[in-house]
Amino acid sequence: MTEHTIAVAGAAGHLGLKVVTALKARGAKVVALTRPGSAPQKLAPLEAAGATVVPVDLTRVDEVARACEGASCVVSTLLGLREVMVDAQTVLVDGAVKAGVPRFIPSDYALDFSQLAPGENRNLDFHREFLHVLGTKSIAWTSILNGAFMELLLGQAPYILFKRHRVLYWQNADQVLDFTTMDDVAAFTAAAAMDPQAPRVLKVVGERTTPRQLAALMSELTGRPFTLTWVGNVFTLGLMIRAMRALMPATSDPFPPWQGMQYSHNMFSNRGNLVDPLDNARYPDLKWTPLHEVLSKHLKTLGA
Ligand SMILES: NC(=O)c1ccc[n+]([C@@H]2O[C@H](COP(=O)([O-])OP(=O)(O)OC[C@H]3O[C@@H](n4cnc5c(N)ncnc54)[C@H](OP(=O)(O)O)[C@@H]3O)[C@@H](O)[C@H]2O)c1
Repeated sequence: MTEHTIAVAGAAGHLGLKVVTALKARGAKVVALTRPGSAPQKLAPLEAAGATVVPVDLTRVDEVARACEGASCVVSTLLGLREVMVDAQTVLVDGAVKAGVPRFIPSDYALDFSQLAPGENRNLDFHREFLHVLGTKSIAWTSILNGAFMELLLGQAPYILFKRHRVLYWQNADQVLDFTTMDDVAAFTAAAAMDPQAPRVLKVVGERTTPRQLAALMSELTGRPFTLTWVGNVFTLGLMIRAMRALMPATSDPFPPWQGMQYSHNMFSNRGNLVDPLDNARYPDLKWTPLHEVLSKHLKTLGA
């Protein structure tokens, strides 16, 4: 069996640590690239997972190249605005190329942004911009698309109102939406990082559901009826996003409220959802966590 060394940038982040853990479970050696000066409590879980932690300044190509020497793939799980998603990731890929690393996985893990027009999703514009940069580099790459993280349904994406027994939706209660848990995305990313044949785009979805199905599932899991509540059409949502964007001061937060609304717009307008065929079966050992499992676990923590 070939031994893989995989370098993970953004390793101390939410997805980064999960990718590191999944890579170790698949038997890879892992170099966890972290920000210089990161707090010890951020590094301890990486060391406990068995990774070699290497602080790297992502403005310095030489430093990145030294850290990535001998790796068969560099995985990025960075998150930020343009200076991270385009500038720092460009330094990261330049360092990988300089070290002779053959493969790169950019920090996408998103809806399908290939069909979106510039401005439809500010954050995903940075992802698309970076893929253009990546296309000019001498390295093979694989972009992983997985819809929305399923965990967002537990709070950040305001579709399920757990205490008010409602499911909110835009436009159409039968709109199909794509969700995948972070653990499943991390496991798939680890497998793809160790797969020299992986193509340029891999698409996975843990579970597809609609607002109507979500309401039925919540009713079944709680034993109380969940009501579907229409909040508007996507045209109105688009106007609200424009108004909020104009009124809110600029911020370095990658997820101001209007940004979350842009993701909702992409999903409920069906423009960012993943089109078949999916690659869920590419690594047969992987299982996909169903929505009912994530929701029932959450309901237990709420004491429902
Ligand atoms: N599909 C979805 O629903 C969904 C939802 C959320 C996120 N995502 C995607 O998942 C990916 C990872 O997100 P996440 O939630 O894991 O983000 P996160 O927890 O914020 O982690 C991002 C990591 O990037 C590092 N980082 C940021 N700027 C850096 C810089 N200039 N130099 C070095 N390191 C830097 C951070 O370092 P520190 O630890 O030092 O701060 C952190 O470790 C992103 O591509 C994001 O778009 C997808």
